[in-house]
Amino acid sequence: MISLHDKTFVVTGAGSGIGAATAEQIIRLGGRVIGLDRTLASRKDSQQLNLNADVTSLSALEEAVSQGKAHFGALDGLVTCAGISVPGDTLTTDEDTWNDALAVNLTGTWLSVKSVLPELIQQKQGAIVTIASVYGMLGCSANTPYNVSKGGILQLTRSLAADYAAHNIRVNSISPGYIATPMTEVISAFEPAEQAFVSMHPMKRPGQPAEVATAIAFLLSDAASFITAANIPVDGGFSGVKDILVG
Ligand SMILES: NC(=O)c1ccc[n+]([C@@H]2O[C@H](COP(=O)([O-])OP(=O)(O)OC[C@H]3O[C@@H](n4cnc5c(N)ncnc54)[C@H](O)[C@@H]3O)[C@@H](O)[C@H]2O)c1
Repeated sequence: MISLHDKTFVVTGAGSGIGAATAEQIIRLGGRVIGLDRTLASRKDSQQLNLNADVTSLSALEEAVSQGKAHFGALDGLVTCAGISVPGDTLTTDEDTWNDALAVNLTGTWLSVKSVLPELIQQKQGAIVTIASVYGMLGCSANTPYNVSKGGILQLTRSLAADYAAHNIRVNSISPGYIATPMTEVISAFEPAEQAFVSMHPMKRPGQPAEVATAIAFLLSDAASFITAANIPVDGGFSGVKDILVG
């Protein structure tokens, strides 16, 4: 049985999709959440404190983490769900768009980790889960900025695991496949696109945010006490199977 009893986690991107489901799951398992997002409905109680913070700003993140620590009196880890979808190939992507993808998805993940590390090092323990993507593991066409940012998150995660294992801080990734969230509404709203994505997943359906949140909760918990530098795909088989049958 997974328990997050009495543990406090920062969750970025907590206002929507996988981040919102992760916040709910942490609380269901007995934990507390410092929820961060660009704009977030305010909440301040014994289970969750919501704060506005853009993950591209280290000072905003540090201020929010410090407020969260003061509110709950503890900090046990981080889940980095904040992210943006940035499709495009190299010729159709301008430099600003490329920079935005890396600034939010990759540098934003790095800055989020940077904002919690001093506290975790001081406490001599911590668990961090980054959210990458199956498109960080595999190539695909017309999605270069996103793919590169997510591939970078996987390498960042392994590098962090190497640097901070001696401080008893575990760092792992989750790589979701096609998950039904506001980010993918552009796909689910268009039947042929939805069918194309679903058909690439051996389980022939989109995943639900709660199914990703459960895997995140496992990695945050003491049940994963000897797991670090790992990446768990939560993708209905997408990254492990290339079937010879189409459809
Ligand atoms: N939905 C999928 O199919 C899927 C698949 C693979 C990976 N992912 C990844 O999972 C993570 C969560 O995605 P989701 O599907 O829940 O999307 P979502 O759009 O529902 O949620 C993303 C959240 O991140 C927040 N955010 C964006 N930029 C931010 C910034 N600069 N600062 C702070 N918050 C910011 C948004 O406001 C939003 O609340 C993302 O990193 C995404 O790339 C999603």
